[in-house]
Amino acid sequence: MLLGVNIDHIAVLREARKINDPDPLQAIGIAARAGADQITIHLREDRRHIHDEDVKKIIENSPLPVNLECSVNPDIIEIVAELKPNRATIVPENREEVTTEGGLSMDDPNFSNLDKAVHYLKAREIETSLFIDPTKEAVRGAKTIGVEWIEFHTGSYANIYAMLYSNLSKTHHSIKELEIERSKLKQMLNKSLQILEESAQYADDFGLKIAAGHGLNYQNVKAITAIKEISELNIGQSIIARSVFDGLENAIKEMGRLIK
Ligand code: PXP
Repeated sequence: MLLGVNIDHIAVLREARKINDPDPLQAIGIAARAGADQITIHLREDRRHIHDEDVKKIIENSPLPVNLECSVNPDIIEIVAELKPNRATIVPENREEVTTEGGLSMDDPNFSNLDKAVHYLKAREIETSLFIDPTKEAVRGAKTIGVEWIEFHTGSYANIYAMLYSNLSKTHHSIKELEIERSKLKQMLNKSLQILEESAQYADDFGLKIAAGHGLNYQNVKAITAIKEISELNIGQSIIARSVFDGLENAIKEMGRLIK
């Protein structure tokens, strides 16, 4: 299984002070040395962490392929087309969200924009991916649009896992709708894994390449690695969080050891 390291949170730390340190560019050599397979970054419309010049420098200097997440907004797609990452992963974006909350919905009014954006990027030899919820409808939609890759949003699995097996439920970030009996949470966790597995098998039958990500960490990643159709994981927050105590190289190596 391949490991894409999402380094947005290095820029989050920089933007907390609005200065030039830490520079996410410094992470790319460390990630390569630690055995990562890909660098993932998200150029958000609000530029809350990664900025255009970060993307430019990272693409120019990265020894690893760069997977650039972006919204379907035509202005952003134009920037991505010019920056030419190896892959563009189109994700839903919403200004108020803390992080990407769910996958793209194919009934979205933006669907036709999605189709246009994917063709525009493919014509410029940029590999394309859609960040989708693990549903058969979304997989079929992605196949119809003609992307090479899909990435399943694992946030629902990760949230249930955190409410069951971490102290999240005891904190002010507890997820209210998941404050339910543990036995019910366990059933939901199994169901969320089953949905991911079935959706991955379904997508594999269509010949799509399958990635997954969001909320994956050192505790919850193991069950996802058991889904053999998933060939790549993009992981950010947990790796950068661990690197505060352990260093980035060790944090990436440890995640690599768990998933490879
Ligand atoms: N994959 C995609 C498409 C994402 O949008 C994100 C979050 O930016 C990730 C993976 C990584 O999620 P996390 O930071 O929770 O590991």
